[in-house]
Amino acid sequence: MTTQVKKICCLGAGYVGGPTCAVIAYKCPHIQVTIVDLNETRINAWNSDNLPIYEPGLDKVVFDRRGKNLFFTTEVEKAINEADLIFVSVNTPTKKAGMGAGYAADLAYIESATRQIAEVARSSKIVVEKSTVPCRTAESMRTILEANSHDDIRFDILSNPEFLAEGTAINDLMHPDRVLIGGLQTPEGYKAQQALAEIYEQWVPKDKIITTNLWSSELSKLAANALLAQRISSINALSAICEATGADIDEVAYACGCDSRIGPRFLKASVGFGGSCFQKDILNLVYLSEQLNLPEVAAYWKQVVDLNEYQKKRFVSRIIKTLFNTITNKRIAVLGFAFKKDTGDTRESAAITLCKDFIQENARVNIYDPKVSEQQIFYDLSEPGVTYDIKDLVKKRVTVVQSAYEASANADAIVVATEWDEFKELDFERIYKSMNKPAFIFDGRLILDAEKLKSIGFRVHTIGRA
Ligand code: NAI
Repeated sequence: MTTQVKKICCLGAGYVGGPTCAVIAYKCPHIQVTIVDLNETRINAWNSDNLPIYEPGLDKVVFDRRGKNLFFTTEVEKAINEADLIFVSVNTPTKKAGMGAGYAADLAYIESATRQIAEVARSSKIVVEKSTVPCRTAESMRTILEANSHDDIRFDILSNPEFLAEGTAINDLMHPDRVLIGGLQTPEGYKAQQALAEIYEQWVPKDKIITTNLWSSELSKLAANALLAQRISSINALSAICEATGADIDEVAYACGCDSRIGPRFLKASVGFGGSCFQKDILNLVYLSEQLNLPEVAAYWKQVVDLNEYQKKRFVSRIIKTLFNTITNKRIAVLGFAFKKDTGDTRESAAITLCKDFIQENARVNIYDPKVSEQQIFYDLSEPGVTYDIKDLVKKRVTVVQSAYEASANADAIVVATEWDEFKELDFERIYKSMNKPAFIFDGRLILDAEKLKSIGFRVHTIGRA
């Protein structure tokens, strides 16, 4: 079957827009895909050998299609005009000021992208909301599009939230658990849903393509992230009980996960979840619940985020207590800075909170991450502190190094903040010799062999173990 859509434009060349549309170009060589962004540096990087985001398998997909049916450009108007279908994949961060600050999603980027489509378009378009947005955002987008549309031009709006996880994005996109397409329950709405479904049908089995109404689709994305984060906070809450009782969180997680009603995934205890989505989307759900006058529902979901903050603070306080109640001028090697392995993304990474706390306690912090640049680390640790004092403090206290060995030399403690596979393979005998004694390891990701480390001489502290 041939699709009606011949040209696609994607607004936003970020972690979602880039990989998602690159995979569409890869799987649909007959469709021309143009990814645009206002950020010229980002577009230049997409057009270079050094892509702006690290994602296993992404290079192969991009290099295979770039210049053939996949293009990256800042020529937004041209791309909008040529396209039959437009994905809106712009950022929707938590609002920093004004009404709903700290909770609601900032929809300014969505609105300005929508206005731009309305102003520029000279032919009918299917506009697809790919960004994660609060329930009923599509309604606002439709109102803006319709109010600004010219004669004989119609806009059909769809919601097609993205469920990829960073670090496994390409595999998730190639083999999605499901593709969700929400549309208006009108003949035109069904037709637009069908046009988008036909694109995915090029590689996704039909029974995995779910069509729903617009509002179910928008809410399902928030709900899925809330449920996933809730599992992490649940296992992390149990990890605190384990530490106090002598139970072992990995054993508890395994025993619970064997129950087919529960299942094993997302039951790994850790120093806390991070990433650009979980916290933002739950806070968004909390705000939505409050707006709907459902305070008990809001409080329920808010607790998932509160527990996550508690878990990070609890880990820091365990480290300080173990290091004889002071870390002033002690050297701490932080292994990993990305919010999870196989990505260079640091948004909301637990490592940021840990390092900021160590700096406040006057420790010296050596940081090593295989994929995060020194510039990004200094940026994250200096924000939102804008003052030069904080920037100076970070510069004085933090050293970004090129290996775990360099990080650990003369350190008093190692803190594993990200679960990079390479940390499991380190030569810990060598590391032990280079550290101050007693040498401590705090495993915030439960990836190290504690017994082996103890036999070398380390004092090992693992989340979820006494
Ligand atoms: P991002 O910040 O990496 O990328 C967004 C891009 O949009 C930026 O490069 C920005 O310059 C660009 N942009 C903003 N306004 C624009 C406009 N008017 N025209 C053209 N470009 C514009 O954000 P990311 O991570 O890709 O997220 C995008 C959306 O997808 C968010 O709503 C997020 O919640 C959602 N999402 C993110 C996932 C992730 O793993 N990062 C997973 C699933 C959904």
